[in-house]
Amino acid sequence: MNLGILISGRGSNMVALADAVRAGSIPGAEIRVVISDKMNAAGLQAAAERGIISIAIERRGRTREEHEREILSVLKAREVNLICLAGYMRLLSCDFIEAYRGRILNIHPSLLPAFPGMDAQRQALEHGVKFSGCTVHFVDENLDAGPIIEQRIVPVHDDDTVETLSARILVEEHKTYAEALALVVSGKYETVGRRVIRK
Ligand code: GRF
Repeated sequence: MNLGILISGRGSNMVALADAVRAGSIPGAEIRVVISDKMNAAGLQAAAERGIISIAIERRGRTREEHEREILSVLKAREVNLICLAGYMRLLSCDFIEAYRGRILNIHPSLLPAFPGMDAQRQALEHGVKFSGCTVHFVDENLDAGPIIEQRIVPVHDDDTVETLSARILVEEHKTYAEALALVVSGKYETVGRRVIRK
């Protein structure tokens, strides 16, 4: 599988995936390109340091269609057949999702379907849940709503802040994303309705 990873910022999940690929934990996966919609994303540098082709395609100055068309043309040129969203802060259009139907993964810092959208960790704290976590799922047209591949639970402590909870979840995100990606790349799963089941 040829992977394309889309980021907007720090890129720690992208680094976790890159390190897992390099360690041989995701057999059959090769990262062909990292694309950021932000020129100054720290993740671009981190990718380059790992010898991965990294490209900024800014949204600014382009229509959404132009922006996505450019991303798609880079993905096609790099022969990408599986996309990982890793802190990519833009919604993908139906046309984009259709072009990679069932082949786009995302990681979200909550136990979906709880707390989709922005600031999931803040939402969890404000709701008062005692456990949160992270979810890797397939991307469909609805926000943070596609079939769930993998989840991990993280406790919420009484003295947590958004920062401390986010940091605890992030540690699990890195492991969960690599595991979920390894499963998808292996092809050893089937989707029954919304359920992603290991074979
Ligand atoms: C992570 O918390 C991820 O779950 C969310 O955005 C954050 C990105 O962090 N979608 P990073 O850029 O991977 O460090």
